[in-house]
Amino acid sequence: MKEQPDIVIQEVSPRDGLQIEPTWVPTEEKIRLIDAFSTMGFSRIEVSSFVSPKAIPALRDAAEVFTRIRRTPGIIYVALVPNMKGAENALAADADELNMVMSASDTHNLANVRMQGAESLRVFADVAKLGKSSGVLLNGSVATAFGCPFEGRQAPERVLEIVRRYLDLGVDGITLADTTGMANPAQVAALVERVLALIPPAALTLHFHNTRGLGLANVLAAYNKGAWRFDSALGGLGGCPFAPGASGNICTEDLANMAHDMDLKTGLDLPALIAEARKLPALLGHDMPGQVMKAGRTLDLHPTPAAVKALLA
Ligand code: COA
Ligand code: ZN
Repeated sequence: MKEQPDIVIQEVSPRDGLQIEPTWVPTEEKIRLIDAFSTMGFSRIEVSSFVSPKAIPALRDAAEVFTRIRRTPGIIYVALVPNMKGAENALAADADELNMVMSASDTHNLANVRMQGAESLRVFADVAKLGKSSGVLLNGSVATAFGCPFEGRQAPERVLEIVRRYLDLGVDGITLADTTGMANPAQVAALVERVLALIPPAALTLHFHNTRGLGLANVLAAYNKGAWRFDSALGGLGGCPFAPGASGNICTEDLANMAHDMDLKTGLDLPALIAEARKLPALLGHDMPGQVMKAGRTLDLHPTPAAVKALLA
């Protein structure tokens, strides 16, 4: 029997990672990457988003990607959707889970999906009905949950209100997203504690960006409060094109390396992840923020220098 991981990592680079890249990644390459992830131990992969191709041209091939990836039984292939049209297209492409997204801040919600929060919630009532009748899983994401680049801090009560509204719609999971890396560990601990009073840890995902270097510190703050599901992206890719200053998600290999060093099982094949991350600069034409892909795993040791050997001889 497969061992239960201590930390469940959802790979989001095909969606959050590629959405902000100026370089067009050919459909074949996206499919190859997702098929590779399917062999590395992930139980959940966010494959793409069904959004306006004018808003996110990089993911305009979502339907083709979804229909051509090799599905591994037991892996949940997730689609981000902002509205009904997205939900219908995601279902037509056989997504396993619809990830609805709205922001705690109305300003970011308007910038991102051109709706007030209240309108997103009205739309999601229909999306949820459709999702339920189709038998897919539903996730509700709260973007800018820890801060908005336009409005600043968001009241925890606002985040909790959105969580409750999602729960009323019958979602299977909730994601709290730190869209532009404004969260700090103290804030994360406090909010996670309040959200875990409403839902079990199995239903909560934290989605951190490493914009200010606090990504893994925030993971540990959430973990220490009982959360164990996290989003991350290969190489530390990622960012929302409608949030100024957005930068990469926390990096999957860095997170897995930390977890493994702490004897926390992720179920992930870290050497395979590192090998895949090392292909990204050639694919995308720039350096990656990921650290472990450059440094190697903590205990990937180097040969003793010849000069030291000579001293020992
Ligand atoms: N997928 C594809 N096309 C869509 C769509 C969807 N989910 N929703 C709307 N459209 C199309 C409409 O059909 C219409 O097309 P047309 O101009 O050819 O007639 C056009 O987009 C405008 O439709 P409208 O409903 O007025 O949308 P909008 O211009 O107000 O934009 C969103 C709203 C949500 C579609 C757009 O802002 C969006 O896609 N945002 C996503 C941003 C994102 O992914 N951010 C990062 C992830 S958090
Ligand atoms: Zn994100």
